[in-house]
Amino acid sequence: MAKKKGSVVYKCSGCGYTQPGWLGRCPECGEWNTMEECIVDPNAASPLVHQDGTSVKVKPVPMKTVALEDSARYSTGNSEFDRVLGGGAVKRSAVLIGGEPGIGKSTLLIQTSAAFLADNPKSRVLYVSGEESASQIKARAVRLNLNVDDVEILCTLRLEDVLDALDSLNPSLVIIDSIQTVYSVQAGIVPGTVSQLKYCANELISWVKERDSVLIMTAHVTKEGVIAGPKSLEHMVDTVLSFERSSDEVRFLRAQKNRFGSVDELGIFMMESDGLKIVSDPASLFITMRQDGTPAGIACVPVFEGSRVFVVEIQALTVPAKASLNRVYSEKIDSQKVSRIAAVLEKRAGIKFSDQDIYVNVAGGVRLSESAIDAALAAALYSARVDLPLPEKSLILGELSLAGEIRPVSRLKQRIKTGRELGYSTIICPEKENGVKAVTDIKSLLATLFK
Ligand code: TYD
Ligand code: MG
Repeated sequence: MAKKKGSVVYKCSGCGYTQPGWLGRCPECGEWNTMEECIVDPNAASPLVHQDGTSVKVKPVPMKTVALEDSARYSTGNSEFDRVLGGGAVKRSAVLIGGEPGIGKSTLLIQTSAAFLADNPKSRVLYVSGEESASQIKARAVRLNLNVDDVEILCTLRLEDVLDALDSLNPSLVIIDSIQTVYSVQAGIVPGTVSQLKYCANELISWVKERDSVLIMTAHVTKEGVIAGPKSLEHMVDTVLSFERSSDEVRFLRAQKNRFGSVDELGIFMMESDGLKIVSDPASLFITMRQDGTPAGIACVPVFEGSRVFVVEIQALTVPAKASLNRVYSEKIDSQKVSRIAAVLEKRAGIKFSDQDIYVNVAGGVRLSESAIDAALAAALYSARVDLPLPEKSLILGELSLAGEIRPVSRLKQRIKTGRELGYSTIICPEKENGVKAVTDIKSLLATLFK
């Protein structure tokens, strides 16, 4: 097979910055006449070579001479997407989005393509689909009222078609939907193998690494979240996101790995009949509204997901154990934590849990791992066990020690503020803040709740 001809880039001989077009002055280090024409040779061990075939030498530089780029990120035009990426998409980076089929990956990406062009009007977006035809994609975009007139669409399965399009278009945003459909005969004749995936992803990643471009690839994962093939790509990309269903319409976009930001930020969308919508006031998204009072076994607590506070509802149920050994059924809160808190209640508050099966759930499907939820979990368990509801509109905060003490939590002021804004009038926590009820141990907590 003929060797693939490399594409041309311009590299600064001073600082090594590369970009697709020639410039008199390097935008990175500000030097004049330092941009040299180079060829990105996909077959060379060192990918950058001069026109005469000699390889480009890269030199180390002292850190103090390295400039911080202000414009290192693009806004994707989608604020929740930007949030999860750590404040926009970093140029020359590769992002992998995994999710079950039908979760909304293609919808998210066609919306993002349109939003990206609106925010970065001079740039180009290439949307590569191996799953749908151009007219299907257009029909969806039209139904969602998106302006995709200037999005370049390429429906192909061949990697070489994609690389040709990249070289001719020079897009700032490249979307590959999905990486599992792309194949190259260079990586063997069977499409869909791990070596195909790795080869194709590597070629695409190498392309964006040399340009001010962002690569977003989708990957289908199975229900259990096993991404056998895509898993092998995780170390190759800069950012791994998962797109998940929280409840019927609510979708979470969360980072599992991010070289350029925290992995705590959560992006929240609602899947509606006209596409994915950003939730403008997510703090109350997980609260259940009830007409006739809150039943026993339910406690609310303000939790952090990244930098935002959400009030969530912990639900507990206890029933006499069916077997001689009691069991804990809890998916959203670690069941060892549930057992530990039940044990503290049994020892310090004198109520028996060891003959009970315990069920714990969190409304809205958020997973809770903060220790700040301990006291609320204890209150929900106690309330379920004695079958007495907690006071209406109450929030409980605190970490619970094995000795039954209730300990302070981080970022208390922000949690209280959000709780108040959502109309919670009773706030119980271990610190003396304005207008809250301070409790120091499990006994005083229960006395305050069930007086
Ligand atoms: P899609 O983006 O095709 O999912 P993926 O690419 O992850 O496989 O989303 C398909 C689902 O989303 C489909 O079941 C219908 C639903 N949907 C809506 O509810 N509203 C919409 O506006 C769109 C476009 C899709
Ligand atoms: Mg799709």
